[in-house]
Amino acid sequence: MRIDVLTLFPEMFGGVFHTSMLGRAETNGILEFHTHDIREYSSNKHHNTDDYAFGGGAGMVMMAQPVFDCMEAVLDGGSARRILMTPRGRTLTPELARELAKEERLVILAGHYEGLDERISELIDDEISIGDYVLTGGELPAMVLVDCVSRFIPGVLGCAESAEDESFSNDGLLEYPQYTRPADFRGRLVPEVLLNGNHAEINKWRRQQSLLKTLEMRPDLLEKAPLDKKDLEFLRLHGYEK
Ligand code: ADE
Repeated sequence: MRIDVLTLFPEMFGGVFHTSMLGRAETNGILEFHTHDIREYSSNKHHNTDDYAFGGGAGMVMMAQPVFDCMEAVLDGGSARRILMTPRGRTLTPELARELAKEERLVILAGHYEGLDERISELIDDEISIGDYVLTGGELPAMVLVDCVSRFIPGVLGCAESAEDESFSNDGLLEYPQYTRPADFRGRLVPEVLLNGNHAEINKWRRQQSLLKTLEMRPDLLEKAPLDKKDLEFLRLHGYEK
């Protein structure tokens, strides 16, 4: 997959795109990253990219011209799924990330200032938010989106890892606790059940721990998770009231 990011701060992306799993996927030719400085496309003599809002009000608005020119140069007549990172977009979910992972090319616009000239939305296929909070710009959300989508692209995660076997794909429940050696760390012991090699017992314990963690942290997820009679009995014993 080719990913282009249109941004006022291309320097923010280097560490994230070229390090760790994303860096490895890039080296292996699975992902290709390009960042583009919107400011370089400003036809204004001061290379401005923002201006006052028509109608007044606090805050500056990102101008249409540099974004249009940048987008047109980057697409160069080709096609891509064009995404704007904005708190007013639809919320990023694993389903959306899985869908985007099938695209051959993404172009992501990291918005800035109080807002963007509405005419920019003509260039955009999807407006995406990473959550109901407002950040200072769309750069961090763009990195979150790229990381999240990449995990669903075959070959990005090693064989040992999987995008399926974790919180939010673990049957709609949160992940159970994990431990590694030593079994005794400063007197804090690994639960006995994990040490005895009885896989039926281990699976039961893990299921129960997932249920408890979800009940504690995200009870809303229990509404949608496929739960059997045993799960419900266990949850009710621990205070679940549905
Ligand atoms: N830009 C600022 N806040 C954002 C958010 N929560 N999601 C996406 N883009 C943003």
